[in-house]
Amino acid sequence: MAYDNLIVSINDHVGLIQLNRPKALNALNSKLLAELAKCLKSMESNDKVRAIVITGSEKAFAAGADISEMSGKSFVEVYRADMFNEDANMIDRCRKPVIAAVAGYALGGGCELAMMCDFIIAADTAKFGQPEVNLGVCAGIGGTQRLTRLVGRAKSMDMNLTGRFMDAEEAERSGLVSRVVPAKKLMEVALDAAERIAEKSMIATMTIKEAVKRGEESSLAEGLLFERRVFHALFATEDQKEGMNAFVEKREPQFRDK
Ligand code: CAA
Repeated sequence: MAYDNLIVSINDHVGLIQLNRPKALNALNSKLLAELAKCLKSMESNDKVRAIVITGSEKAFAAGADISEMSGKSFVEVYRADMFNEDANMIDRCRKPVIAAVAGYALGGGCELAMMCDFIIAADTAKFGQPEVNLGVCAGIGGTQRLTRLVGRAKSMDMNLTGRFMDAEEAERSGLVSRVVPAKKLMEVALDAAERIAEKSMIATMTIKEAVKRGEESSLAEGLLFERRVFHALFATEDQKEGMNAFVEKREPQFRDK
């Protein structure tokens, strides 16, 4: 499928989606978001895809929602369209593992897209921020919510209220990103992580993702119960038998998602 604002490929069971509106620093207009949602849906239903990487350019993962597209809209228009409810949240609804590989600016909606991914690998050039306050608004796709859960209240308030940017080192220290790598190595490291995930049983990786996300929405006791029950449930899979037998027999497992 051809897209105007994305470059898409599938290799070694990894779906790679590159946001591609270079002239606007990958600003997220409605067309790009619709294409991203469509692409994620198609990767979700494609058995060849077992993990997904979303990236941007060297200069920008994405510099936010498209300000030119939004600037003239009225309250009634954005409210009736429920702007940013559908397409922008598709990453959050994707059940397959999704990694964000971030270089350069990840601002506003760009930072929010990255935070919807399961984890972020950042280049040492990455800059994260929620600068919506400079536009007279607040974040609209999770910047006041996910950022607070990821880095805590103090830093989230600081970022959202001052609009300042956080560099990659501070983002790693704060728990926003899982690793920082030299910019030249970003795609190699992100694709390698995705390939490692793709080698596992997809029933297990999807379950792990579900358990972590469920835990974020519930108490520790509820989360632990959910985890224990899905752990038990995985004993109904052939992949559990294969994984454990392979360990005992000192060989590599051959998972079949069954
Ligand atoms: N929307 C639309 N266009 C954007 C954009 C955005 N978010 N960010 C950058 N662009 C465009 C610029 O208008 C410029 O276009 P022209 O060449 O046609 O003028 C082009 O991309 C290059 O940008 P700059 O010339 O500004 O590049 P720079 O290197 O000087 O600065 C920057 C880079 C600091 C990222 C700056 O572009 C910037 O501040 N961008 C806006 C960041 C922002 O406010 N993001 C939040 C958007 S609102 C939002 O996301 C709401 C939400 O939560 C959903």
